[in-house]
Amino acid sequence: MRDFRIAPSLLSADFACLGQEVRDVIAAGADIIHFDVMDNHYVPNLTVGPLVCEAIRPHTQAPIDVHLMVKPVDSLVPMFAKAGADIITFHPEGSEHIDRTLGLIKECGCKAGLVFNPATPLSYLDHVMDKIDMVLIMSVNPGFGGQSFIPHALEKVRAARQRIDEYTAKHGGEIWLEVDGGVKVDNIAAVAAAGADTFVAGSAIYGQPDYQAVIAAMRAELAKVA
Ligand code: DX5
Ligand code: ZN
Repeated sequence: MRDFRIAPSLLSADFACLGQEVRDVIAAGADIIHFDVMDNHYVPNLTVGPLVCEAIRPHTQAPIDVHLMVKPVDSLVPMFAKAGADIITFHPEGSEHIDRTLGLIKECGCKAGLVFNPATPLSYLDHVMDKIDMVLIMSVNPGFGGQSFIPHALEKVRAARQRIDEYTAKHGGEIWLEVDGGVKVDNIAAVAAAGADTFVAGSAIYGQPDYQAVIAAMRAELAKVA
């Protein structure tokens, strides 16, 4: 069985008590904290910056997965690295120089990844696989939590899985395949069967009173996937 990782998105947490929300979700069995950064420019919403990342950092040892929905990207990279990010992903449309931005993230000591909107082609991966630690497939258009999963994202997950497997078979290394948007207990197994190993879930987890029960139900679904 593949290693499966569950990454609750803080976007649906109670922002009045983020530290507690971070601790609670990790205690409930989550693996990673997904941190959504929106700039009201690249996406039509505004969320949180490096100060908030720094504020939650002491509340967990779990990796913080910073998803930058911003344009431009580069100036924020060192700030998030300093604020304790472990993984930084960005959308290729947000950067004029994708290779340079990936290199900058690595130089700052973080894992780097590219994020693909529903209409963004995977061909952006063609020349940068050597700098990629994570591929993030969006199964909604970015900007808001609580949207419905777009079913054709599954095809893209399969295509990304194939690219990653071909690359790692030849060159080694490890590249995580994450899916973000509308992931719930009732579709997580299908997303895993398509090839994902890391699952962002915002409203599905933080929208329920018992985080542990939701995460356990997700793991039970994942256990059914060969
Ligand atoms: C969407 C964000 C997601 C979002 C997921 O723009 O990148 O991380 O918070 O929320 P759910 O799981 O509710 O779709
Ligand atoms: Zn996200």
